[in-house]
Amino acid sequence: MLAVGFALAAPSAQGEYGDVVLNKQAEKAGMRPVVFPHWFHRLRFTCNVCHNEKGFKMRAGSNDVTMADIIDGKFCGMCHNNEIAWSAEFCNRCHSGLPGLEGGFYGTQETAGPGGVGDVKKRRH
Ligand code: HEC
Ligand code: HEC
Ligand code: HEC
Repeated sequence: MLAVGFALAAPSAQGEYGDVVLNKQAEKAGMRPVVFPHWFHRLRFTCNVCHNEKGFKMRAGSNDVTMADIIDGKFCGMCHNNEIAWSAEFCNRCHSGLPGLEGGFYGTQETAGPGGVGDVKKRRH
């Protein structure tokens, strides 16, 4: 029984939960909030590819990201540079949040199990 339960709860990880919204400046500057699918990226890269001294601080909302930085190869621009991934010119792929969406973590970045999917409870800092 336990084994079956575990199998059923096994994650089929998608970017639908554990998304981070970044909206410190985007909306003020007339752009939609940025939705960053943390899981999608975590599956592909180790943590310290992004969470290093030149990258993202490990706290939602603690990074001041500008497009100038991104085009300069920092933050999302470490990869979204037309080499590792599509480039910064595809605005809407990142600026995909609904207007008014506040910055922070949505869902859970810890597990893909129950409480993860569809759980839009937000953690605040
Ligand atoms: C790879 C993801 C990505 C793409 C593609 C992207 N952005 Fe951004 N953008 C961000 C992130 C992350 C922020 C910071 C969001 C925040 O904290 O408010 C940001 C912030 C901004 C800001 C506010 C800060 C500033 O630099 O003035 C503007 C304006 C902006 N983007 C415009 C654009 C435009 C226009 C495009 C397309 C030409 C674009 N972005 C494409 C990720 C992206
Ligand atoms: C592709 C880049 C990338 C990778 C890989 C990545 N992260 Fe993140 N992580 C981010 C971004 C971007 C944020 C949001 C930062 C912000 O809001 O300013 C974030 C936020 C976080 C947070 C903050 C959560 C909160 O509620 O404040 C934690 C914890 C975290 N990541 C842990 C990890 C761990 C552990 C791994 C590896 C298993 C990992 N990250 C891999 C980019 C990444
Ligand atoms: C360490 C490299 C790396 C960093 C840093 C990174 N990305 Fe990505 N991202 C990728 C790769 C690789 C893909 C897959 C590209 C493809 O499918 O062609 C991707 C795909 C995406 C997708 C599409 C996900 C999907 O479901 O298809 C979004 C949205 C995205 N990134 C947003 C961002 C934003 C916003 C940031 C910064 C906050 C960021 N990324 C930082 C490597 C990165």
